[in-house]
Amino acid sequence: MNNIHYLNHPLLKHKITILRDKNTKTIDFRQLVKEIAVLEGYEAFKNLPTIDVEIETPIEKTFQPLIDGSNVCFVPILRAGLGMVDGMLEMIPTARVGHLGMYRDEVTHMPVEYYCKLPPEISSKQVFLLDPMLATGGSSIDAVNTLKKYGVKNISFICIIAAPEGVKAFNDAFPEIPLYVGALDRCLNDKAYICPGLGDCGDRIFGTVENLKKTN
Ligand code: PRP
Ligand code: URA
Repeated sequence: MNNIHYLNHPLLKHKITILRDKNTKTIDFRQLVKEIAVLEGYEAFKNLPTIDVEIETPIEKTFQPLIDGSNVCFVPILRAGLGMVDGMLEMIPTARVGHLGMYRDEVTHMPVEYYCKLPPEISSKQVFLLDPMLATGGSSIDAVNTLKKYGVKNISFICIIAAPEGVKAFNDAFPEIPLYVGALDRCLNDKAYICPGLGDCGDRIFGTVENLKKTN
């Protein structure tokens, strides 16, 4: 399990606590998901390669490192993963973005793929799969299998809240893939929701919760 990175920064913990609160409004929820993505990305990008380029400071010419963003691709799992993309792009603006649409069947909790649009030459890029929630692991495992079908070799998965069941399933399936977890929760309930979790992340990002107040 040494490819699992439990992130432990107080700022990250603080923001995830506010995210969980059922009284957090949609606009704040969305902003927090973005900020959390930045903090997690900072950790997950630690091993990105750099290339030395020549620049000129006011003093002299020098070779200094840059990240080649065109070699990086963010792939959010729709819908909730979309909330993490802007934060990631703020850090690596030249990165590419692919999209994978998946929803969990309400009865079986199995993922159903409904959309897939990936950039050309994705197979040679460093791909960061994004989804705030790792519950049973079904969606992220299917997403990785799709990426592998396209020949992608370098994949990392970044989630915000994970259940132990999902972490185990994902790591059993892909022990070679680095997994970044913002918070490890207690368990899944009988509807496969994470406890204590934050509820339905997609609904909270996009304001599609039925009992939301009009001002929320
Ligand atoms: C949520 C979440 C993950 C998935 C995690 O999506 O964003 O994609 O559930 O659960 P799993 O690990 O058990 O597969 P959901 O199916 O609710 O779709 P949505 O984002 O479109 O609401
Ligand atoms: N998807 C969510 O949005 N929340 C959960 O708790 C589990 C899956």
